[in-house]
Amino acid sequence: MAVDAEAFRAAMARWATGVTIVTARAGDEVHGMTVSDFSGLSLDPPLVIVCADKSSNTLGVVDKGRCFAVNVLAAGQETLSNKFASKKQEWERFEGLACETAATGAPLIPGALVAFDCDLEMNHDGGDHVILVGRVREIVQRPGDPLVYFAGAYRGLAPA
Ligand SMILES: Cc1cc2nc3c(=O)[nH]c(=O)nc-3n(C[C@H](O)[C@H](O)[C@H](O)COP(=O)(O)O)c2cc1C
Repeated sequence: MAVDAEAFRAAMARWATGVTIVTARAGDEVHGMTVSDFSGLSLDPPLVIVCADKSSNTLGVVDKGRCFAVNVLAAGQETLSNKFASKKQEWERFEGLACETAATGAPLIPGALVAFDCDLEMNHDGGDHVILVGRVREIVQRPGDPLVYFAGAYRGLAPA
């Protein structure tokens, strides 16, 4: 029996995740979008995966530039998450953000908990998404708590 799309979406929403902004650069073009489908894949070599909707503009920039950075958002960065999930123009998404540039050229989102700067190793077809495999070239970290996403809403960590 085929799984109903809405039921599948609702079930997946029960999976608590962090929130990232995946940024990319191809020449002068920079782009970024909010992504929760991110995971570590391999320690040796250091690989991560990101699942990108085939209709996303970010995917085209990753394909052209062959790199991306995964910026893990900190508690309190909901506004940034919403900005990069919207269909705003690039300049509006990055407006007011003093981004540093990672080794690959991808923008680093200020205030992120950790950024994984990656060369695109390969991509795989994944239904209506593409699975991007990145080889981590550089890691930038700072202390803090993460932004959490669960059941369609932003949350924070409960005290331990
Ligand atoms: C919390 C959250 C998580 C998201 N996770 C993903 C994701 O894992 N993959 C994806 O392709 N889009 C994801 N999106 C949707 C994209 O951020 C959104 O479609 C964005 O507008 C794509 O921008 P672009 O087309 O300019 O690249 C997420 C949105 C939100 C709010």
